[in-house]
Amino acid sequence: MTTVALKDVAKVFQDGTVAVNNINLDVNDGEFMVLLGPSGCGKSTVLRMIAGLEPPTSGAVLLDGELVNDLAPQDRKIAMVFQDFALYPHMTVHDNIAFPLRLAGVEQGPRDERVADVASALGIGDVLGRKPSQLSGGQRQRVAMGRALVRRPGLFLMDEPLSNLDSGLRAELRAEISGLTRELGVTTIYVTHDQAEALTMADRVAIMRKGVLQDVGTPTQVYGRPATLYVAAFLGSPRMNLLEASVYVHLDRYVALHLGDQAIHLPWNDIRSRAVAHYHGERIVVGMRAEALTPVGPDAKGEVLRGRIRYLEHHGHESLAFVDVGATAVVVDEMGSSTGDEAGGPRGRRKLGQVIQRLTGRGAEPVADPAEPSRRNPNSVLSDPGRHHRRPGELGVRLAPYPGISAGHPLAVSVRLDALHFFNERGDRIDVGWR
Ligand SMILES: Nc1ncnc2c1ncn2[C@@H]1O[C@H](COP(=O)(O)OP(=O)(O)O)[C@@H](O)[C@H]1O
Ligand SMILES: [Mg+2]
Repeated sequence: MTTVALKDVAKVFQDGTVAVNNINLDVNDGEFMVLLGPSGCGKSTVLRMIAGLEPPTSGAVLLDGELVNDLAPQDRKIAMVFQDFALYPHMTVHDNIAFPLRLAGVEQGPRDERVADVASALGIGDVLGRKPSQLSGGQRQRVAMGRALVRRPGLFLMDEPLSNLDSGLRAELRAEISGLTRELGVTTIYVTHDQAEALTMADRVAIMRKGVLQDVGTPTQVYGRPATLYVAAFLGSPRMNLLEASVYVHLDRYVALHLGDQAIHLPWNDIRSRAVAHYHGERIVVGMRAEALTPVGPDAKGEVLRGRIRYLEHHGHESLAFVDVGATAVVVDEMGSSTGDEAGGPRGRRKLGQVIQRLTGRGAEPVADPAEPSRRNPNSVLSDPGRHHRRPGELGVRLAPYPGISAGHPLAVSVRLDALHFFNERGDRIDVGWR
């Protein structure tokens, strides 16, 4: 019903806080778009600018292709539900839902009809005579949605509407909300910090960090090919394993990724090996989700990493083993800057041609110290071997429930090469650019 476009939209508050930093985003007609990110990343500010409750500092907000920067909220055909929605305690459910229609001067006949319609769609048709205090949390949330939807908005904005509910109810309501908004065909922008909520509800997800849009795509796209290290770390449970790897090109054979004392090998005919080969002699980040790792027998051949189980987590339907493979973990802190803290100039990227010239042939040995502290990029996500102790990189591996082994037990895991993710020290995806 309504399309939304944000063009270079920024919000700088009076105290200098850059809440939203030049965001570009298009939301299609009838689409369910989820804005995802940690607390404080600017999600609510984006929503409030779309609603007209907060003027952008710069940039343009367009609804149905029209610039609305100066349009008052009530003229935008938008409905909004917040986390801390308030119902009128002295009014019945019916009157709460009917209230915006009364304000708009809709006659009683059509008004009651619309209230009944929306209440039945939300499954609260049988509690219309009750007061809010006589409702469960989930029912109250449905009433708040009913009050928003009864005006038949073209655009429905929801800001963490389920955060105050318990987890069972959240799961139930998220399915209902995404079902209902699709049925109504209303364009929806839904804000959450919960990645599971985003992946299950969205047509597309827009992931924000510190006011900056990191990635936009379908759940499959952002989960399967995250654009940045941050998105990779934020999406999925258990979290993606992120390890530092030193890259060594063995021309025409493979690109070796050294993870501590072990290595995995990307065959030269794998299209990604050419992109990774640019980092010869340097370190990159290798990401492996649990689904890329399969426990194998101790004598298994192929791309196998070995280590000892540091600890186990039992989740009922599965157990997770955290295996110390002697590699270094990359830690992505949710809120702050990347973990690098060293001053120094940016490192020049060596050209692949130069690298190849320096190689003496098959099985060439490493040619460079992969980390020279004085030349480190201050924004690097990689550790500084000159200054810090190694952060042991544990691989989270899925096992059958209660596998009957304990911490200290050796474990070998085979690595699915096609499920690996590669990022450079700035945290950007290294890949051939298709999606
Ligand atoms: N009125 C305001 N004045 C100053 N800073 C604000 C104001 N509102 C929000 N902020 C700041 O802007 C940033 C983004 O806030 P917000 O959009 O509420 O984030 P989110 O909804 O993702 O948690 C935060 O650092 C927050 O403290
Ligand atoms: Mg918020």
